[in-house]
Amino acid sequence: MSDPEAALGELVRHALAAEVGPECADADPLIRPSDFADYQSNVAMSLSKRVGRRPRDIAGPVADRLNAADAVASAEVSGPGFINITLADDWIARQASAQLDDPRLGVPKAEQAQQIVVDYSAPNVAKEMHVGHLRTTVVGDAVVRVLEYLGHDVVRANHIGDWGTQFGMLLEHLFDVGEQTAYAQLAAGEINDFYQAAKQKFDDDPAFAERARLRVVALQSGDPETLRLWQTLVGDSEQYYRTVYARLGVTLTDADLAPESFYNAMLADTCDELESLGVAVISDGALCAFPAGFTARDGSPLPVILRKSDGGYGYDATDMAAIRYRVRDLGADRLIYVVGSEQALHFSMIFAVARQAGWLTDKVQAEHATIGMVAGADGKRFRTRSGGSVKLSTLIDEAIQRAEEVIRDRYDDPDQRHQIAEAVGVGALKYGDLSVARDSNYVLDFDRLLALTGNTGPYLQYAAARIRSIFARAGLDPATVGSAPILLGTDAERALALRLLGFGRAVTEVTVAAEPHKLAAYLFETASAFTTFYEHCPVLTAPGEVRQSRLRLCALTLRVLVTGLGLLGIGVPARM
Ligand code: ARG
Repeated sequence: MSDPEAALGELVRHALAAEVGPECADADPLIRPSDFADYQSNVAMSLSKRVGRRPRDIAGPVADRLNAADAVASAEVSGPGFINITLADDWIARQASAQLDDPRLGVPKAEQAQQIVVDYSAPNVAKEMHVGHLRTTVVGDAVVRVLEYLGHDVVRANHIGDWGTQFGMLLEHLFDVGEQTAYAQLAAGEINDFYQAAKQKFDDDPAFAERARLRVVALQSGDPETLRLWQTLVGDSEQYYRTVYARLGVTLTDADLAPESFYNAMLADTCDELESLGVAVISDGALCAFPAGFTARDGSPLPVILRKSDGGYGYDATDMAAIRYRVRDLGADRLIYVVGSEQALHFSMIFAVARQAGWLTDKVQAEHATIGMVAGADGKRFRTRSGGSVKLSTLIDEAIQRAEEVIRDRYDDPDQRHQIAEAVGVGALKYGDLSVARDSNYVLDFDRLLALTGNTGPYLQYAAARIRSIFARAGLDPATVGSAPILLGTDAERALALRLLGFGRAVTEVTVAAEPHKLAAYLFETASAFTTFYEHCPVLTAPGEVRQSRLRLCALTLRVLVTGLGLLGIGVPARM
């Protein structure tokens, strides 16, 4: 076991069972990082009432037992009954050595593999993908990678918006301008212009609006010509997603497309089931569910609209069918929706109805992993200078171009420079989304994202590249660094080794509430610990055993950084 918190927790539990009583064997040992030692346990205070002893009378005997353990250098009681614990250097060194020999770097597999559906990315056909979609794509993809690394079965569900009433106006507009003109416009990437033009006509021209409504009916009833044109619109957008995903290094493929239209055939049946369960009722001609606790300002109950009075289905119905399908047909144990926070109410209501229907239970849970807004320098929703929404491909271009400026002086060969700029630019953009708590809003500022210091993608990539260059200079391969013991002669070496042991816990924590920023924060702390180590501890010029030990610490740091960044979906350029 290489995770210090888990190892100490185990020791504390054993000590409690022996000193206080067997009923304490399953108490949470409350191990936390400490300012006064490596860790502290706050368990004595939490157990005091339950076992009827003063905290210090619990802490004292527990500390005595800890002091007798191999892993512990010292355990001291302080204050009302904190136990401050310092780990033994040789224990840390042995664990670090074992971690380097472990292909999984101390990351445990999940005790129980689950079937997990992750709904993410989900852009809308015939609308530009925007920075909000970038964020759900990047965060969702990191979550998926980590879940899979822990051994879970993951279904990626790309719930593309390819259905709904807006297709009436889009298709009608396509008819009006003619296929050739329309495709030329779309091929030129002017999706937004196309959409805006359709919307304008829909708003201004009642006759057009009426035609659009009829076109929706034609689409939903499967009129072949309408379906053919719809398919071209969808195909065109999907082609665009493919390019964006490839540029971003996102794992989504065509096989993960489960667009809204995929659930069409299930909508009637889903509604019937909800109605016969008594979960949904007819209200003003529409089929609605009114989950408890959701009311409008005036106190009236808020509906989940399953079937409109004209017989049509919308976003709510599709999501109900999707939950049912994911639970029943895909056998999901857990559903994660990585979607913007503005849809929080929608998901709370949908989940409440699904619980009422018995599709979600204590065993099958759904969670909305909310994504905050990406703002521009003015703090408002990120936009182009002219106020339009930003094309994702343009944003990626800009990130790469800016990265190229940052590294310009280091590379003469333009091809090499461009290749590295791609990894750095895309990495910086993605890391910007991943390093902040997913539900917080943040300001997209390229200067900050591309800085070579601070909690940025380039800083982490640079730390890894620096380690590679140490090995390159010595003509050594970081994959084969022998088995010399790791020696922790200085504070910086000890701090780095201890930090490295936390990798497994950091990776696992991502999956608790779908929060990749926890891994990002860990990697940043690790890179910082490495920077301090590298400032204080010469590697290649150190004498014999120390050199061997430091090379092994470097190799372990490199593997942790590269693996960790890989789990976030960020590549490390060979050089930087
Ligand atoms: N297409 C939607 C949007 O862009 C997001 C879909 C999220 N997933 C879902 N199952 N509703 O806002």
